[in-house]
Amino acid sequence: MCGITGYIGTNDAKEILLKGLEKLEYRGYDSAGIAVFNQDGVHIFKEKGRIADMRAVVDGTVTAKVGIGHTRWATHGAPSKGNAHPHQSASGRFTLVHNGVIENESELRVEYLQDVKFNSDTDTEVIVQLVEKFAKDMETEEAFMKTLRLLNGSYAIAMLDTEATDTIFVAKNKSPLLVGVGEDFHVVASDAMAMIEITDQFIELMDKEIVIVKKDQADIYNLQGEVIIREPYHAELDVTDIEKGTYPHFMLKEIDEQPLVMRKIIQAYQNADGNLEIDSDIKHAMAAADRIYIVACGTSYHAGLVGKQLIEKLAGIPVEVHLASEFGYNMPLLSAKPLFVFISQSGETADSRAVLVKVKEMGYRALTITNVPGSTLSREADYTLLLHAGPEIAVASTKAYTAQVAVLAILASATGSAKDTIAEFDLVKELGIVANAMEILCDTKEEFELMAIEYLPAAINCFFIGRSIDYFVGLEGALKLKEISYIQAEGFAGGELKHGTIALIEEQTPVIALATQARVNGSIRANVKEVAARGANNCIISMKGLETEGDRFVLPAVHELLTPLVSVIPLQLIAYYAALHRGCDVDKPRNLAKSVTVE
Ligand code: M6R
Repeated sequence: MCGITGYIGTNDAKEILLKGLEKLEYRGYDSAGIAVFNQDGVHIFKEKGRIADMRAVVDGTVTAKVGIGHTRWATHGAPSKGNAHPHQSASGRFTLVHNGVIENESELRVEYLQDVKFNSDTDTEVIVQLVEKFAKDMETEEAFMKTLRLLNGSYAIAMLDTEATDTIFVAKNKSPLLVGVGEDFHVVASDAMAMIEITDQFIELMDKEIVIVKKDQADIYNLQGEVIIREPYHAELDVTDIEKGTYPHFMLKEIDEQPLVMRKIIQAYQNADGNLEIDSDIKHAMAAADRIYIVACGTSYHAGLVGKQLIEKLAGIPVEVHLASEFGYNMPLLSAKPLFVFISQSGETADSRAVLVKVKEMGYRALTITNVPGSTLSREADYTLLLHAGPEIAVASTKAYTAQVAVLAILASATGSAKDTIAEFDLVKELGIVANAMEILCDTKEEFELMAIEYLPAAINCFFIGRSIDYFVGLEGALKLKEISYIQAEGFAGGELKHGTIALIEEQTPVIALATQARVNGSIRANVKEVAARGANNCIISMKGLETEGDRFVLPAVHELLTPLVSVIPLQLIAYYAALHRGCDVDKPRNLAKSVTVE
């Protein structure tokens, strides 16, 4: 969701900014722009649509050594060239890009900017106009700080000043932003991936900090102007991790990476005795809790639902799972000794972060399970467990989901072993079986492509049904299908259909049923018969040992608590092929952003 790049150095800024923006495309956006400085002044190029559309309007003859770039995911004002960043102040002196949302923009317009003519519908323009207003009576740095002190909301900002052509003014609050350090240059980026090709040294920024970035210097201050010293860290990112290689889409590459991710997770969490272990502080925090509150969004929320089963069954601690966007405004009555577990692939999701800030203020402990070391949710929680899934680029989350479930299983079983609540459960062996099963499924892709063609060619809707843990995987299957193929899809508890939803079943309505749980095998099959009697086009995906004649696909057998790790793969692949055959932009579905950094 919105991406920022910036460059100041000795090379041509334009190409570095554009390449950086391309690396941030995965975050989701609907317009893009860059601004560069040279002896002729500021040159701004922006366009609605893809970066390729913007590239087409960039004047190739302009060369410059300083610049800022932006991909915008519209919040205030429609996606349009006029609302695309960079935005300029009235005189053109200041040029600025911004991620985030300024909540008090209307008040600021009334109080300070009534005499200013605005050129866009964005909240961002308020920031740049305020800086210009204040800079009439003070240095740019002071005007910048004064402006930032007035803002309520979230921001990551990079700004140029025609009267300080050797500087990029940078600031951050709640939205992610890094400053990268090179031999004779500095860069600014929403995440390290954008600039990893030119540097692996990055300075982390904390909320309400500004950085005065020059070619060979980056000075950090807080909003009171006090100096902050922070050394760069080394970003451990492999450039090939963020390339598609021979794959047509990142989503397909990431689906295929899942067996490897399982093995990496085993390796990362295995102790000297060969058991899967977590930090003893986390185990103690878990064991001391009388209730776990899992808070997450989207796919991570679905992983949390599976996590509840794992923790309750293996560690014997009651668990509640909440949508972050609801929890913050409608907090349930909390138990006496709660522990909060935040699940977030990106570690930057604003809805989850808002809850984390609140529960920390209330004095509670929090654990973040994330794929991104050093991400905001990781930094601000007391403990972190990493997913070790490698960068996930496709908007549709796949390998992060299975990594989240696997790490939740490790958390649950390590806590269970410490509390002695767990009977024999050799998780290393079971996850090894899962990795092999995943490999078999990934090698059977054509089967799932055929299923997509058979069940979904002209479907206007689709139901995913299951009972118990299969119901939660059905929710994830439905989310995958709708977000990339735009087919209306619903995940449903099999037994609940007859209480209303079965009214939607018509001749040929696709119903994909999961049957991986022995306890409910009979009852989910009864539910399938109910929809079949009303004309549904049924597709049963069962597990070895539970199959009956007519099942469309039989999954290799794995431990019954770990079935989501394999049953989700056919659903990911069916969604992928359904979207592909409909000509959808699989990796960058419409209206969506990878990292949702606004509430
Ligand atoms: O980075 P997070 O895990 O916090 O993101 C949460 C959701 O936005 C994310 O899982 C979203 O639902 C995915 N696009 C689904 O594929």
